[in-house]
Amino acid sequence: MKDTKIIQPVESCLNLAKQELLHGEIVAIPTETVYGLGADATNPHAIEKIFQVKGRPQDNPLIVHISDIQMIHRVVGVFSKTAQALAETFWPGPLTMVLPKHHSVPFEVSAGLDTVGVRMPSHQVARAFIRLCNVPIAAPSANLSGKPSPTKAQHVYQDLNGKISYIIDGGECAVGLESTVISVGDDEVTILRPGKITMDDLLHVVQTVKIDNGVFTKLEEHQPAASPGMKYKHYSPNAEIIMLDGTLAQFEQYVQRHLSDKTGVLVFDGEENRFSIPCVTYGEKDNSDQQAASLFDSLREIDKLGLKKVYARMPSKTGVGLAVYNRLVRACGFQMISLKRPIIIGLTGQTGSGKTTVSQIFSEHKVSVLNCDQIARQVIERPEVIEKLTGYFGTAILDQNQALNRKKLGNLVFGNAEYLSYLNHVMYPRITKVVEQQVQQLHQHGCKWILLDAPTLFESGINHICDYVVSVLAPKEIREDRIIKRDFISVFEAAKRMSAQHDDEFYSAQSDEVIKNDGSQEDLKEKTVQIIKKIKENINGDKA
Ligand code: TXA
Ligand code: MG
Repeated sequence: MKDTKIIQPVESCLNLAKQELLHGEIVAIPTETVYGLGADATNPHAIEKIFQVKGRPQDNPLIVHISDIQMIHRVVGVFSKTAQALAETFWPGPLTMVLPKHHSVPFEVSAGLDTVGVRMPSHQVARAFIRLCNVPIAAPSANLSGKPSPTKAQHVYQDLNGKISYIIDGGECAVGLESTVISVGDDEVTILRPGKITMDDLLHVVQTVKIDNGVFTKLEEHQPAASPGMKYKHYSPNAEIIMLDGTLAQFEQYVQRHLSDKTGVLVFDGEENRFSIPCVTYGEKDNSDQQAASLFDSLREIDKLGLKKVYARMPSKTGVGLAVYNRLVRACGFQMISLKRPIIIGLTGQTGSGKTTVSQIFSEHKVSVLNCDQIARQVIERPEVIEKLTGYFGTAILDQNQALNRKKLGNLVFGNAEYLSYLNHVMYPRITKVVEQQVQQLHQHGCKWILLDAPTLFESGINHICDYVVSVLAPKEIREDRIIKRDFISVFEAAKRMSAQHDDEFYSAQSDEVIKNDGSQEDLKEKTVQIIKKIKENINGDKA
């Protein structure tokens, strides 16, 4: 058992670490990407210790780090023109090139391959230390194999306390994800592991950039890996992580419906207040650099919270985002659920408020309308439903042809809270199911926007499948006047119906948008069109 010390990068301490390294021991060093577990790359015994300490599979080769370009000739056999051009542009920096190995580099480093991964880190302390030792340093990330890579000296300590003597503290790693690994051809490269240096960056130097399959997909046991590291389950906390592909609203709903013991979420900065369960963030939604810098720390945070299951927001896959995605999808063991479906807007409001007119305006704007009243009328005609209802209410709700008489049923349940509650208990789950099926069908037909016209949106709980809720409200006198004319009912009847309705506050408190229908038809149309625009902008802005 070693006494592990975190040491500062001052001359006296670096000299101690140098002694240790040149004696064939291993030392944790900071780099701009992640902390590395360094050993003298020319010493096979020292290299073996790296594999032991990390618990790393033997077939996973290491990256060799150099401090200056002259050192490259001690590591690679052939330094091609393309490799030179890439080095000139990206070194020192987070790019690892897989090149033909120099004979002096032991096969322990390359895991038996004739090639070797090499990079010149930009972290000043890393380069100063390599220069001081005057040997190329082989270093994998300084985590226990399978754990998230360390981006702070403290992370290394958590994983390797007692196993190594020195951790050189170089502060928090600026990039936060491991280097981009490429194989180098003639004016062509293939990305084996994405990182801070992106495809677009590389295209400034070479004609062609390919991305290896292993970047996106899980390699099966028997499949050969261009970069052996890509086949292992990496970066994973103890918790099961599942990536959800969809909008924030879809994410929220999914999580709400799948809550279980010790469930948490991994979301973007600023989204925390939407959740009442443990929440870890990993940078702003549109800032891949920030996500890269935070991800590993956040994954470690998940373990500190003792979570069992974590749902994660999906990052963008462009630019540095590809690297973030690549690490996160591995942390998930490739578990990903697509929530992509049409955007659902719930429309509700008091009777006579002008909901129907509003839903017509939506449908003129390419939004498919599902009318929940219509669905309810179909559901209630089902033999199994009639059987249930007659079982409870008796045959008084049937007409002489044994068909359901809705008016009789209405009169019975209206004003009787217990009866109404039973009816709702039978109807709402069935209506919701039909709505979900119809949403699915519309989705399959390529529909992107659906309006659910539902007078009892909140009471039925259907608001929970909506991404957006809009209520239409109107002054009492206007509503009264409308329903008297529309339904040919008496003032008394109208008052009775209206007294059963919720007040404005009930609707506005639970809605994203409220349309006040207190002016002309033109005015209503104008307000509705503005809201449609706003919803489309908001939701399109929430890409995933
Ligand atoms: O940013 C980094 O690259 C960090 C810091 C410490 O420099 N190091 C790092 O090392 O991430 P490691 O061992 O965790 O990952 C090395 C990756 C593995 O995926 C490995 O398979 C690949 O580089 N690699 C190394 N040599 C290779 C070779 N000859 N051919 C193909 N892939 C290679
Ligand atoms: Mg690693």
